[in-house]
Amino acid sequence: MLSTDFLIIGSGIAGLTFALKVADHGRVVIVTKKDDTESNTNYAQGGIAAVFGSDDSPASHIKDTIKAGAGLSNPEAVEIMVSEGPALVEKLSRLGVAFTQSQAGGLDLGREGGHSNRRIVHAKDYTGQEVERALVHQIRSHPNITILEHHLAIDLIMAKSGGEEACRGAYVLEPETGKILEYSAGVTLLSAGGCGQVFLHTTNPAIATGDGIAMAYRAGAAVANMEFMQFHPTTLYQDSLDENERSFLISEAVRGEGAVLRDLKGRAFMPEYHELAELAPRDVVARAIDSELKASGDFHVNLDIAPIGIERFQDRFPNISRGCAQRGIDLTGNLIPVVPAAHYICGGVRTDLDGRTSIKGLYAAGETACTGVHGANRLASNSLLEALVFADRAATAAIREKPEASAVPAWD
Ligand code: SIN
Repeated sequence: MLSTDFLIIGSGIAGLTFALKVADHGRVVIVTKKDDTESNTNYAQGGIAAVFGSDDSPASHIKDTIKAGAGLSNPEAVEIMVSEGPALVEKLSRLGVAFTQSQAGGLDLGREGGHSNRRIVHAKDYTGQEVERALVHQIRSHPNITILEHHLAIDLIMAKSGGEEACRGAYVLEPETGKILEYSAGVTLLSAGGCGQVFLHTTNPAIATGDGIAMAYRAGAAVANMEFMQFHPTTLYQDSLDENERSFLISEAVRGEGAVLRDLKGRAFMPEYHELAELAPRDVVARAIDSELKASGDFHVNLDIAPIGIERFQDRFPNISRGCAQRGIDLTGNLIPVVPAAHYICGGVRTDLDGRTSIKGLYAAGETACTGVHGANRLASNSLLEALVFADRAATAAIREKPEASAVPAWD
């Protein structure tokens, strides 16, 4: 059996944040199914919602989060996320994340659906990729951290501890040899992302198969709110998608900058559904599009980017511009065909406010976890923020609670 102090399953923002914090307190092994940067985080275009604007307030961010969550969020968890988030975003900047700066100086703040203010900290339209780049760079230079790429965690190792079932690591498949490795660990973190691949059309990459949640469930951990699957309103409509191709996201920030949803006759329909029109919470927008498509029989609606202007669009959204061009969409026509697709699971492995699951020794953070922040529907760009804050808190708790080094020979 191999052993480590901290075993982390998944390499998105939650796993990497946790790893960097615990690494000064013991040996860390990160298990990831593909390359170290392949995670749902990597595909987050929008950004990280955090209160930095002079006209903004934590109370407003809390209110917007709970409203989007249909009143089912845990207010304490929301308050923690909103109040602890900005300092952790600043820490990301210090770790090398190049967030877009405004012309007047300071962070450029974008707007997205359901937010009353401009509060989306972003790196153009590839925020998740930029966060992953910077964190992986830090991880790779830390002597206590080992990354096992192309390894698949299969199940948790459970053992009795003081009469209580506890998690003691995980069984990991090494595909190259076909061997199942046993990794013993004092602390195990599940940060394996979501489960979009359960659906035919999803913005999630191939790795998002829900295995973190499934492993916890099989081990007897409490899971919650699995019925709250969020659909992103605007993903690029394509006649046919390759079996392995995910739906290409057209960020909510595009509507935040003024793009308008129109049916194929050119009618702007969102004002008929919500007073915030294009900036209504994303569940409202996704349902409105669905209802329009059912009534018209069309396969998609259009996102009209004329109000932004092509030059500004290409500067603010280089990733989306490139993705559309690669898929044969001519943006000079100003119309991007869009449909909703499965995007984010609001539920997951239930945790307390410090990332502890109902199983001793097992913590969860990021999309795999259900902290109670999102309620029935996650507010745009709260996912990276939640992952950051609760992974940081889980790390603090795990450092305090990790058992003394086991008798198992050290893994190297
Ligand atoms: C987007 O850019 O629209 C996605 C961001 C998110 O899911 O919060």
